[in-house]
Amino acid sequence: NGLKFIKVNNPDEGSENLFNFIKEALEKNELHVIGLATGGTMIPVYKKWVESDLDFSDVTTFNLDEYVGISDDNPNGYAYFMNEHLFSKKKFKKVNTLNGLAENLEEECQRFEDLLLANPLDIQILGVGENGHIAFNEPGTPFDSVTHVAKLTPSTLEVNSRFFKPGEQVPNTALTMGITSILRAKKIVLLAFGEKKRAALTKLAEGKVDTDWPITKLLEHDDVTIITDLDI
Ligand code: GLP
Repeated sequence: NGLKFIKVNNPDEGSENLFNFIKEALEKNELHVIGLATGGTMIPVYKKWVESDLDFSDVTTFNLDEYVGISDDNPNGYAYFMNEHLFSKKKFKKVNTLNGLAENLEEECQRFEDLLLANPLDIQILGVGENGHIAFNEPGTPFDSVTHVAKLTPSTLEVNSRFFKPGEQVPNTALTMGITSILRAKKIVLLAFGEKKRAALTKLAEGKVDTDWPITKLLEHDDVTIITDLDI
């Protein structure tokens, strides 16, 4: 497989590593379209980009996923997250996000997938869920999935509830790029920090592709970099 593990001492060093990877790709003129992720893992990553002189004005972005029923101005949504941490502070050529308020969700997914096909991803950045999900492709998601409406598992609802205020419901439905949409990227960089991510990385390192662990599909890609502080 095309997996390369980079061991770092902490998330900050991991973010620095990714920063250099992105900087080099920009300098070599190899980065025109990038897939972006949300989640706690990404906060120090985007902070570094914002504080730098990296020039993304010729780069188009695609975000991996969004909750259904959450508007742009809802702090729990991924659109809000991206605006707060990156898009309001750095200029991009074009930003593409999934609209979780679309009247017809299937059509919204198709619109997004068509845009992805027309603008192939040079680099996709990924985090990983504790249960091995990538974007919102939960365990059991068919590997041939493209952008689709996804039901979230109780475990993901529980884990992600930490970002919601007490009493606020985590939506149980989301729009997400599919596993196939993600795997089409030329290069993939996955960041995973902390013990909670050990099970998922261990499955990956075991080298067996298994739909119960969506992350393992990365084994079939020829250019994946895993940046982690775990000894796997
Ligand atoms: C969410 C997102 C994923 C992300 C995961 C991990 O479920 N849909 O794209 O990888 O959370 O998030 P964190 O970085 O907060 O651990």
